[in-house]
Amino acid sequence: MTDVIVIGSGPAGYVAAIRCAQLGLETICIEKESSSDGKEVLGGTCLNVGCIPSKALLDSSHKFYATKNNYQEHGISVTNLKLDLPKMMERKEGIVNKLTSGIQGLFKLNKVKSIQGTAKVVSANQVEVTNGDNKEIIEGKNIIIASGSRPIEIPSAKWDQNIVDSTGALEFDSVPKKLGVIGAGVIGLELGSVWARLGSEVTVIEAMEDFLFMADKQIARDVLKEFSNQGLNIKLGCNLTDAKSTAKKVNVTYQSSEGEQKDSFDKLIVAVGRRPNSEDIIGSELGIEIDEKGFIKVDDFCQTSVETIWAVGDVVRGPMLAHKGSEEGIMVAERIAGKKAQMEYELVPSVIYTHPEVAWVGKNEQELKEEGIDYKSGSFPFAASGRALAADDAVGFVKVLADKANDTILGVHAFGPAAAEIIQQGVIAMEFGSSAEDLGMTIFSHPTVSEALHEAAMSVNNQAIHIGNKRK
Ligand code: FAD
Ligand code: NAI
Repeated sequence: MTDVIVIGSGPAGYVAAIRCAQLGLETICIEKESSSDGKEVLGGTCLNVGCIPSKALLDSSHKFYATKNNYQEHGISVTNLKLDLPKMMERKEGIVNKLTSGIQGLFKLNKVKSIQGTAKVVSANQVEVTNGDNKEIIEGKNIIIASGSRPIEIPSAKWDQNIVDSTGALEFDSVPKKLGVIGAGVIGLELGSVWARLGSEVTVIEAMEDFLFMADKQIARDVLKEFSNQGLNIKLGCNLTDAKSTAKKVNVTYQSSEGEQKDSFDKLIVAVGRRPNSEDIIGSELGIEIDEKGFIKVDDFCQTSVETIWAVGDVVRGPMLAHKGSEEGIMVAERIAGKKAQMEYELVPSVIYTHPEVAWVGKNEQELKEEGIDYKSGSFPFAASGRALAADDAVGFVKVLADKANDTILGVHAFGPAAAEIIQQGVIAMEFGSSAEDLGMTIFSHPTVSEALHEAAMSVNNQAIHIGNKRK
């Protein structure tokens, strides 16, 4: 019997497997995805059809857009600028292949055994693996389920050649002239931006009246304004009632406050959330509960009601983010090895990799108000940042929220250049229980866009240098 069986090789599973092996546990990782030659394809959604390919296209499309629209001001002009989409896609595939084969290398290095097949937990210590007509039972002292999630398909927009999910939207072979996106969430904004920058006329249809309901309201307002300026036509409070493909078009009907609307697109991306892969993965006789949204029920340490069975990543509650799954994987590996690891769920950062980026960690103002927490806030606009101005990238601001009683930082929110990296500094500060004053007393290199975080922290206590402070 092996020590640990991990089901799934996404960022939750492969990280759990490597950490288990580092801790001296004999570990097997089972992955169902395979290449045409029958080899397992490691890396899950994140590496193959998620974080990595989407960021590759975001970076490429940003370079194209900036060269076309923003460089003249720097004294750089380019004639005969051309988009070579197959080449852009080839670069994306190259990065994916490099990283997925990198995981194979890491498995070898750490002596994680990798098996190709579809796994199902059939008892507290047994996993059945199916590969074609072959079935085998593998035994393990512990089992970690990291089976991830998949895009949600809605009845009003069934997928076909023109109506696609996020995976299809990473593979268009030409730039759609008119692109529709259902859902103004993270995928809608990121992939909508990619194709808008490459020349699509993009309309985003969102059911909720509130734009980016999970973000700080002040940030969400500015983001909506900026993305509308960038050409994304975001329609809030619109309910899709029907989407039908013809040979070359998708005809869409939706309901807005002004009544029934119709539009037609060359392609339609449906990005309305993801569903956990929890069906048919655990034998019902084990009694492990699955909640109404399909998440496997676990405690704070990702343990199910069966002591030897754990579940991590998108298949359990919490944000569907790669870094959240990876940290859970590490926590579970360490607990299996007898350590007292835990996870700080309050400090999972969120990032939307548009340009500018949107990022946050901790509580936003509406949450603090709802929870009745007395707070103070400080913010700093990138328009006053020397580095952001030098880079011609001065949209947005950083906001720091701190406890009024003891100055402890409760949340950091950013919209602007390198917001993802700036938020990471906020995460570190919060992890160490920093006050706004501590962050304000930290030395930041000049000139950096991170200085906006420094100034926002100082502004919490009316000590910002490069903007006016509130009068006491
Ligand atoms: P997955 O990555 O989904 O991996 C699960 C693996 O389990 C898969 O390989 C699957 O084949 C395998 N599996 C499933 N069932 C079985 C079975 N029965 N037997 C064997 N194997 C099985 N998150 C971020 O943090 N940052 C981003 O920038 C980001 N960008 C994204 C962009 C897009 C377009 C998408 C779609 C997602 C993005 N995400 C991002 C989300 C991120 O990809 C997921 O949160 C993350 O991949 C979840 O990791 P996981 O290991 O739980 O599951
Ligand atoms: P999402 O939950 O971010 O957004 C879905 C949006 O669709 C919501 O605004 C919702 O109100 C709307 N919606 C739902 N049903 C609708 C309908 N019928 N008509 C119109 N709008 C509707 O989900 P998304 O964008 O699909 O992403 C899935 C997950 O992938 C996210 O939870 C996110 O965690 C992860 N992800 C993370 C990224 C990152 O970290 N940068 C990038 C991409 C995805």
